[in-house]
Amino acid sequence: MPLFRFTRHGGTPRGPRAHSPLPWIALIAMILGIVALAFAWLAGWIGRDRPTAQQFTDTIEATGAAHPGFRRAHSKGVCVSGWFTGSPEGAALSKAEVFAQPRVPVLGRLSIGGGDPHGADAQARVRSIALQLISQNGQEWRMAMNSFPFFAVPTPEAFLEQTRAQLPDPATGKPDPAKMAAVLAKYPSARAFQQWAKTAPWSNSWANTTFNSVNSFWFIAADGTRQAVRWSWQPQAPVVELDEQARRTAGLDYLADEFQQRLAQGPVRWNLIVTLADAGDAVEDPSTPWPSERRQVQAGVLTLDHLQPQAGGACNDLNFDPLILPAGIEGSDDAILATRSAVYSHSFNRRERESARGQAGNDAGVPR
Ligand code: HEM
Repeated sequence: MPLFRFTRHGGTPRGPRAHSPLPWIALIAMILGIVALAFAWLAGWIGRDRPTAQQFTDTIEATGAAHPGFRRAHSKGVCVSGWFTGSPEGAALSKAEVFAQPRVPVLGRLSIGGGDPHGADAQARVRSIALQLISQNGQEWRMAMNSFPFFAVPTPEAFLEQTRAQLPDPATGKPDPAKMAAVLAKYPSARAFQQWAKTAPWSNSWANTTFNSVNSFWFIAADGTRQAVRWSWQPQAPVVELDEQARRTAGLDYLADEFQQRLAQGPVRWNLIVTLADAGDAVEDPSTPWPSERRQVQAGVLTLDHLQPQAGGACNDLNFDPLILPAGIEGSDDAILATRSAVYSHSFNRRERESARGQAGNDAGVPR
């Protein structure tokens, strides 16, 4: 339909039959408004109460001293490298090339929980591994996993609440215990996590620590079958306990030194154990463990044979975003997984910017 209707002879529109452009302008404005609202909703600016990556990063930063140039969490670690060999059982569950290729190069990082890049290795309750597997087709599987078997809280909102409870009280300079007590009272999983932290044995090395994906993912087989999974790296090295006395007297870089010495004797290996969810299992809630009788499959073996300091190391300027996945593996709808992806990117951008501007701590860019 034309915007203006003209007389048969051309020239001016007829008085009463002339069509005003106003309805069209209103229609276009309405369409633009709907597009803008949809964009704002998708971006999470309106209509959702989800915390932003900036809020998370600011809050995590405010729980401790500033360490420019370092990761805002799991700040202390070392770079490692080696390879992954998938098994036929893994290849049957996922069409990702990492399971079919005989040897996939791996770059990784072993770290301890917390935001202190100078913390004492042996006293860290949480230990971590982050890996990047790149298959021949150029696709990547990045992951960042922890030694705890489940997350303390079910949602990003609850995690922000928990992190805020750790902020120093301006009056005392220390976190207010009443705030953490309130979080524990509100979330049964936070109480279960506290119980795990108090009672789970401490092993004496990264090499004999089990690391867990905690969040759930989907494995997609070559025929399109979809299976919800969680995975763990289970050490081939026997577990040897690190008792409390040894933890107190160990050197600051105990885990890094121990791992280096171990590698001098030969490579260190973990089995990739994939746990398959049944219908009804909590796929979107990382604070709820699945029943222990769920089927498990050994999907491959990780071998690490080199260690490098993180300062100037190959893993330092890498973002181990757990949603960088190859075809054949997809993230679940767990909101914590999506939040992690956004927050890691934010943390990565901050630390890279600080390094580029020369603001990084004097050991963020030099060998340990
Ligand atoms: C909403 C929940 C979470 C938030 C906000 C969060 C936040 C962060 C941040 C800011 C970093 C630093 C990223 C960087 O600068 O590269 C980080 C690293 C890390 N996170 Fe999380 N995290 C969350 C949940 C988890 C969970 C569930 C796990 C594992 C089960 C995990 C494991 C790790 C590991 C292993 C690293 C170190 C990765 C590396 O070596 O680069 N995080 N996290």
